[in-house]
Amino acid sequence: MRASATTLAAEVSELELAALTTLLKRRRLKGPHLEIGTAAGGTLKELMRCYPDAERPRFVVVDPMRYFSDQPAIVRKNLASAGLDPDRVDFRVGRSWPEFQRAERAGERFAFMFIDGSHKIHHVTEDLAWTRLLEPGGVVCFHDYNRNFLGVVLPIDRFLARYRNYRVIEQVESLLIVEKTAASTADEIDAWDRLRARIINIFHQLQASARKRAPRAGS
Ligand SMILES: C[S@@+](CC[C@H](N)C(=O)[O-])C[C@H]1O[C@@H](n2cnc3c(N)ncnc32)[C@H](O)[C@@H]1O
Repeated sequence: MRASATTLAAEVSELELAALTTLLKRRRLKGPHLEIGTAAGGTLKELMRCYPDAERPRFVVVDPMRYFSDQPAIVRKNLASAGLDPDRVDFRVGRSWPEFQRAERAGERFAFMFIDGSHKIHHVTEDLAWTRLLEPGGVVCFHDYNRNFLGVVLPIDRFLARYRNYRVIEQVESLLIVEKTAASTADEIDAWDRLRARIINIFHQLQASARKRAPRAGS
């Protein structure tokens, strides 16, 4: 069982959470807000609390809800305990990629995205496709952007080098805050990006299992 399932706390650090809430309170973004990967909803709750009830934009959460048992009920309880109505959150129980395809077909747009799902390179690459739906002037934040998570850092660095209409505003610990400065001239993330990431993921898996099998120094 993950600790957050019982503590109901955010799985981001205090400084990262402060950076997120300061950003939302300053920017007052009006369009829908998206979280990919919610755990117990600890960060979601704090993001929602940045807005008075009457001014809160729509929140959408994408998560397969298999992180720990009873995850959907625990998230709802967490929100309710903070005086937030869980029925006002648009929960989409599923993985990021199929949910993205549905959202794109429906022509959805978002003003804010917090991406904190799987750390595997092919999943993060798929999460990055959601930026197609980010309004110009909107903000996307990535968690676990540090060298412990190559599956997170590699696709994000490639993305930022390729799409020059995204500008890093700030990095606070492992939280990377990025603004979409203008509309894109080409769709973010293509079929080759996804295939390439799947191939690299095979190497990441092989490296991880080799590390597990290698005898520890001194043993
Ligand atoms: C690190 S936790 C999220 C922590 C949460 N954002 C917070 O700050 O408290 C990762 C979450 O991502 C979800 N997840 C894993 N794979 C996913 C995928 N392919 N698409 C969407 N969510 C995914 C897990 O179910 C889990 O709830």
